[in-house]
Order: sequence, then C-alpha cells, then structure tokens
Amino acid sequence: MRTLLAYYSFSGTTKKLCEQLKAECDIEEIKELTKRSKLRAIIGCAAAISVKGSAISSIASDVKRYEKIVLACPIWAGHLAPAGVAFLHKAELAGKDVSVIAVSSSGADCTEAVKKAFAASGANMAAVYSVKNTDKPDFAWVR
Ligand SMILES: Cc1cc2nc3c(=O)[nH]c(=O)nc-3n(C[C@H](O)[C@H](O)[C@H](O)COP(=O)(O)O)c2cc1C
Repeated sequence: MRTLLAYYSFSGTTKKLCEQLKAECDIEEIKELTKRSKLRAIIGCAAAISVKGSAISSIASDVKRYEKIVLACPIWAGHLAPAGVAFLHKAELAGKDVSVIAVSSSGADCTEAVKKAFAASGANMAAVYSVKNTDKPDFAWVR
C-alpha cells in the first residue's frame, strides 16, 4: 500500500525535501489558488497563528485509496502555513491517520501547533516530525 505525501511549499525547501521521497510514496503538491508574494506570506502568519486555512486547489489524489497520508508543510510564525491547514480540512481525511513533516528554519518542535490544526479536521494526528529545512529526509517518515 503506497503512502500519499501531500506538500505545500512557498520557497521550495519543502518541495525539495519531498521530492527526495518520491520513490517511497505518491506525491501531490498543494497549490494555493492565489500566488503568494513575500508580503502576503508575512501577512499569512496571522492566518497561521489563528489556524485559518487559505484557498487551495482541489486535491487530485483519491485520498480514500491511501492507508497512510503524510502532510509536509512549512512553519510560519510557529504554526502550520495556511495551505497545510486547508489541506487538513479540505481533503476528506475523517478517520484517517495523517503524519506531518513540519519544516522550519529552526527545526523546533511544532507538535502543539500542529495539534491545533487537526482540531475539527476529523483526521487522527499520527506523528509529527519537526525538521530543519537543511535536514536530510528520513524514509521512516513515510513508511
Ligand atoms: C512567512 C514566514 C514565516 C516563517 N516563520 C518561521 C518560524 O516561526 N519559525 C521557523 O523556524 N521558521 C520560520 N520560517 C522559515 C520557514 O519555515 C522555512 O524557511 C521553511 O523551510 C520554508 O519552507 P518552503 O521553502 O517549503 O516554503 C518562516 C518563513 C516564512 C516565509
């Protein structure tokens, strides 16, 4: 059974990290409907702190097919970026185990912030891997 690795990346580091895991899983990029400027990324911090999702495109993958789902998402202002929150709420994840790879420049533990993003999503938070954006990907994350 393949794993679905869905990721959002604003400046490319999460994308690069996920692409190194593509032999291990099916990968889908989460895209925001409106392209973000750097200024809108900074403004997006307020939404991140409020655990508010942004407008994203439909999820192309048939999420129901996957037993294991991993969301990789950058950390903004100590919280999941809004596109990651939107994925948790928009993809039909009720009852599914979802692990999160939270990518940041500090690598600080983001478990508590990620927990907030799961509330009301119906998904079960299986594991949170808080990683520094220079870390090498670990295949255990998607196994
Ligand atoms: C708007 C914004 C807010 C950020 N806030 C944090 C933060 O609170 N803590 C941290 O360690 N890194 C923070 N970062 C750094 C990113 O989490 C880090 O560069 C990450 O690798 C970006 O992933 P991406 O290149 O896939 O977008 C922030 C970056 C941006 C653009």
